[in-house]
Amino acid sequence: MTEYGENPKLSYNEYLKVPELIILQETLSEPTSHDELLFIIIHQTYELWFKQVLHEVDASIQWMNEGRKFRTNHSLKAVNAIEKIMVSQIHVLESMAQIGFLEFRDKLNPASGFQSMQFRELEFVSGAKDQKILDFFEFDEFAHERLTKRFNSPSLPDTFWDLLKREGFEVSDKDGKIKTIVEILTHPEDHHELFIMQDLLIEHDENIALWRYHHVLMVERMLGMKRGTGGSAGAGYLRTTLSKKFFPEFWEARTYLEVVK
Ligand code: HEM
Repeated sequence: MTEYGENPKLSYNEYLKVPELIILQETLSEPTSHDELLFIIIHQTYELWFKQVLHEVDASIQWMNEGRKFRTNHSLKAVNAIEKIMVSQIHVLESMAQIGFLEFRDKLNPASGFQSMQFRELEFVSGAKDQKILDFFEFDEFAHERLTKRFNSPSLPDTFWDLLKREGFEVSDKDGKIKTIVEILTHPEDHHELFIMQDLLIEHDENIALWRYHHVLMVERMLGMKRGTGGSAGAGYLRTTLSKKFFPEFWEARTYLEVVK
């Protein structure tokens, strides 16, 4: 036995695989453009956050299925905390000089965030499933397999509505869902854990919408109306995605909310 107990002596760098981690940033430009390292690191950081968010969303789905509302809310809190970092992290990219980006941008063709498997997983698991996007990944076996699984599995909204059904609410159609949310919003103390749950879920919806908006503004600030490396119309295309919502009934319910005398 040592001062470390039964465990073998472990170092920070070994545990976190820091030597392996810091050689994963392979620049393409020659001579290397100064800003390309930042560009790679910010994308890799996003992919790590996506991984953690998916981990928490998957856990939330499991807790909901088990009827564990407190535990679900705890994971959803983590989802929202990370997503707020994801929204503000875009500011780091805005520090990149436009001309510096153009130095290496051509090398990226046709790679694009459009192909981010984990972002699409997050959309699918949050309820925004799109067959065209799934088909787009047909030539990427690894991504296609993961996305197909997400596409065919119950989403976060599906699981939430199932939970409410088990709790005795009538949620068989859109009207029933809106009425249920109005009831929860009208009497928060009678449904306190479900009130917090719907609040955390609408916050997740809002966070991703904020990310979309911040991303398109950053893209326009960087590129104006140039086409994307993925082949889309660029900012013009991204603006068409801004109205995507995971929980449309939650938003609509607010319209019908009134003080009960
Ligand atoms: C200088 C930095 C960036 C520029 C100029 C940029 C530009 C674009 C453009 C033009 C598109 C539209 C698709 C295309 O034609 O390529 C796009 C999509 C996308 N980008 Fe970025 N992007 C940048 C950084 C990032 C970062 C850091 C992420 C984080 C993961 C990201 C994630 C995405 C995602 C997920 C999409 C798909 C959005 C959708 O289809 O709803 N981008 N980007």
